Amino acid sequence: MFDLRLTTASPAQTADLAADLARLLSPGDVVLLQGPIGAGKTHLARSLIRVLQGPDMAEDIPSPTFTLVQTYDTPRGEVWHADLYRLTDLTEVLELGLDEAFETAICLVEWPDRLGDAAPEDALTITLAPAGETERAIAVSGSADWAARMADLAARWAAP
Ligand SMILES: Nc1ncnc2c1ncn2[C@@H]1O[C@H](COP(=O)(O)OP(=O)(O)OP(=O)(O)O)[C@@H](O)[C@H]1O
Ligand SMILES: [Mg+2]
Repeated sequence: MFDLRLTTASPAQTADLAADLARLLSPGDVVLLQGPIGAGKTHLARSLIRVLQGPDMAEDIPSPTFTLVQTYDTPRGEVWHADLYRLTDLTEVLELGLDEAFETAICLVEWPDRLGDAAPEDALTITLAPAGETERAIAVSGSADWAARMADLAARWAAP
């Protein structure tokens, strides 16, 4: 198991964490973003997508609150950003192809509890919790495979 706990002091620091994470991701990776409304899930996803896009293609990154899914073509492959808060029926996103995207794209999913059993078992889970006006307690967890891949990131971000 991989379980990293840290606190970021600002949106900028959460963006730094997202950037470090972005460098480790490749197609087939799924990142589940948990936490209450306003915790910073979209901020983290947006920061991550910006790094995956690279400096040459900085397009708008709207929140997928109303569209359920936004997709991006990036130099690192396709990226899916989903917000399932409003999902009432799982078939809505399965019809969009989300389960295939789990295998072929980098997927970032807000409100993944809506997926139930359809959430991939090998996903990385990031849980954000407000810990002050601009502080966020962040837990990053996943399988032992993630521990190996995230060793450098964990060393950089582990609380002293
Ligand atoms: N340390 C921090 N990390 C991330 N965001 C922070 C931090 N401190 C303050 N914020 C602010 O918190 C807000 C988080 O909003 P965001 O839309 O990302 O939340 P969300 O978790 O996606 O909510 P929702 O469930 O409504 O989609 C942003 O305005 C962001 O600037
Ligand atoms: Mg959001």
